[in-house]
Amino acid sequence: MDFAAHVKSSVDIIGVVGESVRLRKQGSVRFVGLCPFHTEKTPSFSVHQGLQIFKCFGCGKGGDVFNFVMETQGLTFYEALVSLAEHHGIPVPASAGGSFNDAESRVRESLDRMHEKAQAWFREQLTSGAGTCAREYIRARGLSPEAEERFGLGYAPARGLIDRFGREGFSPEAMVASGLVGKQTEGEGFYDRFRDRLTFPLHNETGKIIAFAGRALREGQQPKYLNSPETAIYKKQNVLYNLHRARETMRQERSAVLVEGYMDVIGADEAGVRNVIASCGTALTEQHARTLRRHVDALVVNFDPDTAGQEAVHRSIEVLIREGLWVRVLRLPDGLDPYDYCRQEGGESYRQKLAEAPSYFDWLADHARKRFDTKTSEGQSQAIEFVEPKIRWMPKGFERALRAEDVGHRMGLNRMLLSKFVQLFTESNSRAKPIAPQTRFSESERILLRLMVESPDAREELLPDVVDLTTKQELPSRKIFEAIESVGKQDSSFQYAALEGRLDGAERLLFDKLLLGGEGPEPSIESGRSAVAALRLEVDKRDYQAVLSEIGRAEKAGDNVKLLDLLRRKKAMAAPMFERAHRGRTPSAGAS
Ligand code: UTP
Ligand code: MN
Repeated sequence: MDFAAHVKSSVDIIGVVGESVRLRKQGSVRFVGLCPFHTEKTPSFSVHQGLQIFKCFGCGKGGDVFNFVMETQGLTFYEALVSLAEHHGIPVPASAGGSFNDAESRVRESLDRMHEKAQAWFREQLTSGAGTCAREYIRARGLSPEAEERFGLGYAPARGLIDRFGREGFSPEAMVASGLVGKQTEGEGFYDRFRDRLTFPLHNETGKIIAFAGRALREGQQPKYLNSPETAIYKKQNVLYNLHRARETMRQERSAVLVEGYMDVIGADEAGVRNVIASCGTALTEQHARTLRRHVDALVVNFDPDTAGQEAVHRSIEVLIREGLWVRVLRLPDGLDPYDYCRQEGGESYRQKLAEAPSYFDWLADHARKRFDTKTSEGQSQAIEFVEPKIRWMPKGFERALRAEDVGHRMGLNRMLLSKFVQLFTESNSRAKPIAPQTRFSESERILLRLMVESPDAREELLPDVVDLTTKQELPSRKIFEAIESVGKQDSSFQYAALEGRLDGAERLLFDKLLLGGEGPEPSIESGRSAVAALRLEVDKRDYQAVLSEIGRAEKAGDNVKLLDLLRRKKAMAAPMFERAHRGRTPSAGAS
């Protein structure tokens, strides 16, 4: 077994996918959840434990555990392999790299190492003589030694990182590719990107350092925060500060707190709010929202109270609501940002504020009421115009109508306007869903397909008959059964990947739909036997019909010899067929 096969057989795709998608069990080997690759409100993403594969029927993405890790974390095959192995404590043999270790992986691997080295060095500098000013800054802002440690704060002196990287053997090109070193626009020189700054390591979802932010320490040092540029391992539109630490609590509580700044995250975390995250110096993107959706249903948005903060609130809220998240809004008093509030008022008070934060739509209604004179009908229609587009952000039609009713009430609309307003959301949103392609399988075929894949015993006992009967009837499933049979001949442990290669696109989709998309319990071997009996009865009936037509023809032709023979055959067929029909039960999917 090669190393990849070894890793694949040692990890469970359910555990791996489950770390970033909330999965619900459906049947004994199938799990469903919201697809991490596209926006959706109802789960069309399935994972099959028996086959160790995933498939989304919404966007079509699918594959094995390696594909999943590659897609969700933006890794090459080799990186996904190594990451899975490391995560599961499987030693990676030095030779494993060889065939998979492509140029792209090597570049990223060196960027990973550079970030680790840089982090170690920044931490070291913080405790050195050079770091005195940064240590003073940390204390002056009231950060605890625990927070300093937990968030890995460091100090980047004016120079030194380049030398350090040089001693480790990194080339100037690699240094520049990491974003931590810049190349002078004129001349040959290179410079440290972070100079005389307090450093914040930024991690990806799995906890690897992929970038840094550096805060200015002195008056006039611009910009206040300097962030790593985008690199092969850092795409800021995907990254949420603190996600790797917050993720577990987010999933437990099914909610998160979104703040604006790195310091806000640290402050809230110190206040005991562990599910806090921030975007890294950018507006919130759809990708951020989708990432959040994988972990939570709801969010409290607690941005800075200044104007820029307020605009950002609206943009971010739109993105979040469009993604189907339930949003609450917290505005702290006295113009305080979360960090300063926690320092001044304490964690207890901050948590209380979070708990009391109103839903965005309540907040919106109150806001509209203040802004427009809703005692006049003029003011009421202005208020309606103001809130209507925001209610439309909600992806689910029925929720829009419900929310409209709440908002309308809260704004104090008169009864007639209120009902008109709610109607706006009940009419136009009955957009018909695209009809799912009809699966062409009969109930018996369905049962048998699932059984042949999921149960080695059933395969052993029934597969030859199933291939024979479906071929005789020319059923659409016959190619799949044939493929299962030939795969099984090569390798007794059934491999989905091997089967997949033998099916064409349409067959594969039908097959995946059946295995991963269906509801209902796993079929029992007994129901498989009944399904085979039902198929056999169908075949018998067809043969019987054929004989009957031949009899008709022989009669017409006056071929008495043939007729006699046919009548004998008919008699011989009829008895066992009817006997079987009476014995045979209708197949059912459940164990009976
Ligand atoms: P803030 O200016 O509110 O900073 O910017 P902060 O996080 O509250 O930090 P302190 O308390 O002033 O030290 C909020 C976020 O906007 C991004 C950073 O992500 C910052 O945390 N930002 C801000 C930048 O990327 N660059 C800047 O120059 C300023
Ligand atoms: Mn701030």
